[in-house]
Amino acid sequence: MTSRLVDGFGREITYVRLSVTDRCDFRCVYCMSEDMQFLPRHQVLSLEEIHRVGKAFVEMGVTKLRLTGGEPLVRPNILWLVEKLAALPGLRELTLTTNGSQLAKLARPLFDAGLSRINISLDSLDPARFRAITRTGNLGEVLSGIDAVQSAGFERTKLNAVILRGRNDDEILPLTDFARNRGLDLSFIEEMPLGAISEHDRARTYISSEEIRRIIQQRHPLLAATDQTGGPSRYYRMADSASRLGFISPHSHNFCGTCNRVRVTVEGRLLLCLGNEHSADLKQVLREHPDNDIPLRNAIINALPLKPERHYFNLDEDEPRIVRFMNMTGG
Ligand code: GTP
Ligand code: 5AD
Ligand code: SF4
Repeated sequence: MTSRLVDGFGREITYVRLSVTDRCDFRCVYCMSEDMQFLPRHQVLSLEEIHRVGKAFVEMGVTKLRLTGGEPLVRPNILWLVEKLAALPGLRELTLTTNGSQLAKLARPLFDAGLSRINISLDSLDPARFRAITRTGNLGEVLSGIDAVQSAGFERTKLNAVILRGRNDDEILPLTDFARNRGLDLSFIEEMPLGAISEHDRARTYISSEEIRRIIQQRHPLLAATDQTGGPSRYYRMADSASRLGFISPHSHNFCGTCNRVRVTVEGRLLLCLGNEHSADLKQVLREHPDNDIPLRNAIINALPLKPERHYFNLDEDEPRIVRFMNMTGG
């Protein structure tokens, strides 16, 4: 099918990140404030509405959907949505980004429901430190979740680590070795300035992908990988391992020129770029036309010219320009 989703800069939209909840059982320091207020129920899209949005995108040429949050697996009946989306004709990949806390029980049902691939956040292999970064997370549960994903039969499972100077920058090699030993891919993410998180000073904790790569290179020579996932990670291979190492570098290596993705928040806001506030309200269209998806498709098409050429994160500003929290955005 030819895509009708091309933005004003000729970029084709083939990847949509659907946030299914703003809620989470963790409170990661770079994502949420400790006393985060969650949205009231009526403001949140129903699972049926999220399915309509996913279906409309796939019918217009999108081939990859990723479920995000908050923590997508805390949404009740998430397996129903996975099954419905996985069955959409034309969809090549239905993927999920999770903190891993629910995977010990849900990995197998997710596989059976048709999910293609899972990315799991893992910032530390030390239980106390893991707890300090996530504030409420239990490392043992996440490690059991990783085991469950691997025994359920998922392939190309990826870990995501946000490296923060002074918090977990001494775990770059241990995390790399963990991924190598398990046959997992691993992406290192540069911290992004979203949300107003007062007790957490980003200018002090920021560490560039370049610096991380240099540390790894001393131990494991890196070769640029030829196969990429269509996500923002730039992947490398190590000569003696099947694991790929990815680097997501919104600050040090801008990847907006090849951007192929948009996001839909759990409130039904179509966000054209993570680093900008340009958006369109799909919830209103969904609720005004409960039995007709044509207005929904038109709303999506009409929003595309709002997609900006690039994001404008600026680490030097005192106040983040984007006051949306990451859990509202879907990462
Ligand atoms: P793959 O399909 O495995 O490549 O997944 P992915 O890297 O696209 O998805 P994941 O949910 O694992 O995202 C990893 C990190 O990339 C998260 O921190 C996202 O917020 C970030 N990310 C994804 N897309 C963009 C983007 O367009 N801009 C920026 N700045 N960050 C992004
Ligand atoms: N900067 C970078 N990555 C972040 N994530 C959440 N908040 C931030 C931030 N401020 C990451 C999570 C998860 C992914 C979806 O986004 O760790 O791996
Ligand atoms: Fe939850 Fe993910 Fe945000 Fe951590 S980064 S608080 S796991 S949504």
